[in-house]
Amino acid sequence: MAIDRRTFVAATTAGLAMSAAPRAMAKAVKAPPGPFPADFIWGAATAGHQVEGNNINADCWLLENVKGTAYSEPSGDAANSFELWRTDLELAKNLGLNACRFSLEWARIEPEPGQFSVAMLDHYKRIIEGARAMGLRPIVTFNHFTTPIWFAARGGWMNDEAPQLFARFCDKAARHLAAGIDHATTLNEPNLAGLLQLLLPSGLLEADKAMAAAAAAKLGVPAFLAGNAIYQPDPVKVQANLRAGHTAGKAAIKAVRGDLPVGVSLAMLDDQAAEPGSLRDAMREKLYNAWLRLAQTDDFVGVQNYERSIWGKKGKLDPPADARRNIMGAEVYPASLAGAVRYAYEVAKVPVMVTEHGVGTDDDTIRAWLIPEALTHLKTAMDEGVPVKGYCHWSLIDNFEWGFGYKFHYGLHTLDRQTFARTPKPSALVYRDYIKSHTAGA
Ligand code: FCB
Repeated sequence: MAIDRRTFVAATTAGLAMSAAPRAMAKAVKAPPGPFPADFIWGAATAGHQVEGNNINADCWLLENVKGTAYSEPSGDAANSFELWRTDLELAKNLGLNACRFSLEWARIEPEPGQFSVAMLDHYKRIIEGARAMGLRPIVTFNHFTTPIWFAARGGWMNDEAPQLFARFCDKAARHLAAGIDHATTLNEPNLAGLLQLLLPSGLLEADKAMAAAAAAKLGVPAFLAGNAIYQPDPVKVQANLRAGHTAGKAAIKAVRGDLPVGVSLAMLDDQAAEPGSLRDAMREKLYNAWLRLAQTDDFVGVQNYERSIWGKKGKLDPPADARRNIMGAEVYPASLAGAVRYAYEVAKVPVMVTEHGVGTDDDTIRAWLIPEALTHLKTAMDEGVPVKGYCHWSLIDNFEWGFGYKFHYGLHTLDRQTFARTPKPSALVYRDYIKSHTAGA
C-alpha cells in the first residue's frame, strides 16, 4: 500500500509520542518561530493609479472611459491620495509600520514623450521625504502597470523601443528621487504580461481585446497596448521587452545610485504538485523561471502572493471543500506566501522582499485570520534559512482594483469615496499587534 507524506509524518509523530525524550524533540519542532529581526521591514502597499485619482494621462484612464470599456467603473478620484498622501503615511505610521510601498506615475512625470515634469517629480520627492521624516522607509515601484497614453499608443511593451523609453524615465526619476528611496523595484508583476491569457476565462480576454481596439480607433493608431493589458498579440515579444526593460531600468537607477537595492516584483502562486507527473514544474517554468533567473543578478526579488495552486496531471485541481474563499471564490491558504517565497529564493538565490500579500474579501475576519497565520509560516521559512527582508501588506486602503473597480476590497482601511475618510478595519489592528509582539526588541 502506498503511504503518502502526511500519513508518514503522522505515523512518525505518533511513534515519537511514546517515549519521553523524543517527546521533547517533537515539541521543539512544533514550537512557534522566534521573533522577526529588529530590522525587518514592515509595510503596506499602494499603487499610484489605484489611489491617487484623476490620473488622466495614463493608459488605464483612457481605457476606463472609452466606449465599450471592460472596466466595471472608472477610477475617478480614487482615494484622492494625490492630495492625501500625508494622511496615508500617517495611517501606516499609526499601525507601527516602518515602511510604505508606493509607485511613481510615469504618466504624470512624462506626460508627453521626452517632456519631464519637475513639479511632478517634486511631488514624489515630498512623499519620499515625508515618509522618511515619519520613520517610514520608502519602497518605490518605478512602474506599477500604468504607462503614459503616448507609450501605449506606440504599442506599449510590444514596441522594440519600450525598454529604452522606460530606462530614460528611470534615469530621470532616479536623478530626482533615488537619494531618498530605501528599496526600488522597476516593474510590477511583469512575469504575467501576456500570460494571463493562459489562466483567465476567454470571455475576459475577448473583452480586453475589444477595449484595446476601441482605444486604438479613438486615437487613430494601429495598436493601443496598456501596461496591464490581458490580451497581448505576441506574448513572447512582450516578455522579452519587459525583461530588457527591467535590465535597462535597473542599470539606469544604479548608474545614479549604485548602493540603492533594486529588484523586480513578481506575481507568484504557491504551486503544489498533487501527484507525480503533475503540471506544477511546467507551470513554474512558464510563469516565473525566466524572471527568477534574471533576478539572480538583482539585489533582491519582490514576491507578490495571494493564492496557492494545486496542479494535477491535466490542470489545476479544486481547493479542498472546506477552504475559506476570497471574493473570487479562490482558496485563502495562509501557508501560500511562505511557499512562494521559498521557491523564489530557491531559483533567484537573492534575498526576498514580500512586496504584496493579502486577500480580497468583504469579510475582514478572513484578513484578520490570514495575516498572523501567513506571517508565522513566513517566519518558519526564514528560520529554515530563506533570507526575507520585509513584508508589505496589500493594501493600505481599499482602492481601485483595476477591472473590478471599487467592489473588491483588499484594504487594511476602508475608504469613503465621498469624504475620502479612511477607517482602520479590525485586521489592521491585528497586523499592528502582531508586529508589536513578534519583532525583536519592539
Ligand atoms: C496585484 C497587483 C495590485 C493589486 C493586487 C490585488 O496583482 O499588483 O495592483 O491589484 O493584485
